[in-house]
Amino acid sequence: MRDDDETMKDPNHGSESPGVSRRDFLKISGISVAVPLVAGPKMVMAAGQQVPVYGPGKVPMEFAINGKNYKADLEPRVTLLDALRDQLELTGAKRVCDRGTCGACTVMLDGKPVYSCSNLAVWADGRTVDTVEGLARGGNLDPLQQAFVDHDAAQCGFCTSGQLMSAKALLAANPHPTAEHARAALTGNLCRCANYNRIIDAVVAAGNATPHATRSRGGQ
Ligand code: FES
Ligand code: FES
Repeated sequence: MRDDDETMKDPNHGSESPGVSRRDFLKISGISVAVPLVAGPKMVMAAGQQVPVYGPGKVPMEFAINGKNYKADLEPRVTLLDALRDQLELTGAKRVCDRGTCGACTVMLDGKPVYSCSNLAVWADGRTVDTVEGLARGGNLDPLQQAFVDHDAAQCGFCTSGQLMSAKALLAANPHPTAEHARAALTGNLCRCANYNRIIDAVVAAGNATPHATRSRGGQ
């Protein structure tokens, strides 16, 4: 082993040794503490154009969630689901498989249903996110939620927020879906209680309740 390797390993040993002394080590530590922990993206040249490079430290992000602005400093590796649940205290989207198969974590990103466990928060920076928390207004359930209640469409309820958000996206695009439309739209949302027929009944019934079916997404 080289002498300087030894010094790095134990900066307190012999003051005569070359390498990083305890004093130098403390100076270096002080410098690194002074580096900002949160920084915006660096711009680098790639394929003839400037592209932003985020991280590896935290970067400032901003989201429009359920009609409100949220800011957070997050590492670029953080998923949208973790950002919502762990940083922004929006725990309606559920973590079940955490690998893009069950749909329990479904939210709307710019009006499209997505698995929030499989999207990075940084991809949602500056965009609109709708979660199940935004459905009820003024203490009243959204008519889609009410249809789920009326049709007994939730059993354990663990898949329900994801089912609701996929159904909400469907109703925004197709206000009067048939059962076939609803089944196709919710095909990525698994229900381990196998309550599928009642879920589909609720979505179709919600489509027949005109007032909410014509509401637009995002701050509706
Ligand atoms: S938790 Fe995201 S798809 Fe299952
Ligand atoms: S109601 Fe239990 S998983 Fe769907």
